Amino acid sequence: MTAQFRRTLLERATHPYRSAGLFAWKFAQGKLKGDPAFIGLLQHGLIPDGKRLIDLGCGQGLLAAWLLEARAMHESGDWPQGWPAAPKVEHIWGLELMPKDVARARAALGDRAEIMQGDIRSADLGQADVAIILDVLHYISYEAQEDVLRRIHAALPKGGTFITRIGDAAGGLPFRYSNWVDRVIFFLRGHGIIPIYCRSTAEWLDVLKRCGFEARSMPMHKGTPFSSVMLIAKTV
Ligand SMILES: C[S@@+](CC[C@H](N)C(=O)[O-])C[C@H]1O[C@@H](n2cnc3c(N)ncnc32)[C@H](O)[C@@H]1O
Repeated sequence: MTAQFRRTLLERATHPYRSAGLFAWKFAQGKLKGDPAFIGLLQHGLIPDGKRLIDLGCGQGLLAAWLLEARAMHESGDWPQGWPAAPKVEHIWGLELMPKDVARARAALGDRAEIMQGDIRSADLGQADVAIILDVLHYISYEAQEDVLRRIHAALPKGGTFITRIGDAAGGLPFRYSNWVDRVIFFLRGHGIIPIYCRSTAEWLDVLKRCGFEARSMPMHKGTPFSSVMLIAKTV
C-alpha cells in the first residue's frame, strides 16, 4: 500500500509540471522522489492544519504541489493506514527570488497556490499559521538569518509552527559533500559563486531559542549522502 501510495502521490504532484516545461517536470520527479523531506513531512505529521502556510524560498513550488495532492488523496480515502492526516491548509503562499522558478511554479500550480517573486530578507510575510523554509537559510548572512527568524516569529500566532531544513555544519564529510553539490547546482542555475552561511544543529537550536522559538531536530537525509536536519519549532 505504501509503495503504491508513494507512486500515486508522486505522479499526481509532478503531473502539473508537464505544463511548466520538460526541465520543471523532470526536476519535480527527481526531487519529490529522492528527497526524504517531502515524504518525511507527511509521515511524521510535522505540518499542522492552518489557514495560511508560507513557504519561503519555495523554488518551483514543489512543497505546495505535494501538500495539495496529499490532502486530496487523504480526502478521497487513499491514505496509508496509521499515518497522521495530511495537513489541511486553506491558502499556500510561496515566495521565491528567481523569476524562472516563480514562472514554473505558477505554470504548474495555477490558482491553487499564490507564488510571489521576492526576497525573504525584505518581503512582507503577512500573518501565517505555518511557515516553512527548506534548504534556503544558508544562502543569506547570519544577521539576515536571525532577522528572518524574528519576522517569521512575528508573523505566527503563539504556538504557531515554523519548520526549516538545514545542513548540519557539524555533519563531517556528508556536510562538506552537500555544500559542494549545492554550490555547483547554484552556479548552474545562474546565481554565480555565492558565499554560504552554515551552522551546526546545536547552533541553529540556540538561534531559534533567541528568536522566541522552542525547537527540536530530526535527521532528514535518509537515502541521501547529505547531513540534512529538519528543525521543528513552535513560537512561545
Ligand atoms: C535549494 S532551493 C530549495 C527550493 C525549495 N525550498 C525546495 O525545497 O524545493 C533554494 C531556493 O531558495 C531560493 N532563495 C535563495 N535566496 C533567497 C532569498 N533571499 N529570497 C527568496 N528565495 C531565495 C533560491 O532561488 C532557490 O529556489
